[in-house]
Amino acid sequence: MSRSTDAAPSLPAELPGPYGTGPSRRDAGALAPAEKPAGRIRIHHLQQAKDNGARFAMLTAYEQYTAEVFDQAGIEVLLVGDSASNNVFGNETSLPVTVDELIPLARAVARSARRALVVADLPFGSYEVSAQQAVSTGVRFLKEGLAHAVKIEGGSSYAETVRAMTGAGIPVMAHIGFTPQSEHSLGGYRVQGRGDGAQMLVDDAVALAEAGAFCVLMEMVPAVAAAAVDAAVRVPTIGIGAGNATTGQVLVWQDMTGLRGGKMPRFVKRYASLRSVLADAARAYGDEVRSGKFPSTEHSF
Ligand code: KIV
Repeated sequence: MSRSTDAAPSLPAELPGPYGTGPSRRDAGALAPAEKPAGRIRIHHLQQAKDNGARFAMLTAYEQYTAEVFDQAGIEVLLVGDSASNNVFGNETSLPVTVDELIPLARAVARSARRALVVADLPFGSYEVSAQQAVSTGVRFLKEGLAHAVKIEGGSSYAETVRAMTGAGIPVMAHIGFTPQSEHSLGGYRVQGRGDGAQMLVDDAVALAEAGAFCVLMEMVPAVAAAAVDAAVRVPTIGIGAGNATTGQVLVWQDMTGLRGGKMPRFVKRYASLRSVLADAARAYGDEVRSGKFPSTEHSF
């Protein structure tokens, strides 16, 4: 069943829940000093952030230098997303990327980040067949990819899978709302959780958290629905196109730095213009090579 409807959100703007609502969350940014670990950020630090009304940031990373830079900039969580499919491997969607393609990227990021928690996506086809398949793939990402946790897409029907994985010692982040691996069954990139879908989103999050997911990520859902989910679960939540009430936020790094060209989704904020910086550098280099200006004596032996 498609979860997308065009009706207005049915949930109130501030849905009270057992675990509080987003609007009371501190705006201080990042983890508060008492929550700031000296060493590696662990999943319990993200839980402390939720418990204390603090926020944290997550960015995708797929290789050494961005992992180093983002880690040193204080980004708490690095996601080796299956968005590497579109952003590294040149595919049109996230579906074609494989476990064997993602594991070396996860390993590079995990080796390069000293402080951030490194989460890796299990790609399409690597966990849906059975809980055993999910456990085996999760083990590969922790053992060979050196990831600290994995993320899988899907709602309450994946609760047993999450239970099996967490039972095997694999920390699992659950990804609900718009799930790019299901873009063909969802009918494309569409906001999920509108109208009655908001309650389904809450039910999914509760089931996944009860099964042991340490965090629930929501993509492209109305802010009011994301706030309801955050209020309904004890675990931290992360949003991408999900408003401001979640514990954390995530963006794809090539989007937020302006490296990717073309039209951006509405939820992307651009913090830099790397595409033009790189294009200018490449043009200047090409011109200097063609004119014989580079290399000069300064760059020669
Ligand atoms: O793969 C990815 O980049 C993601 C984010 C969009 C959350 O799953």
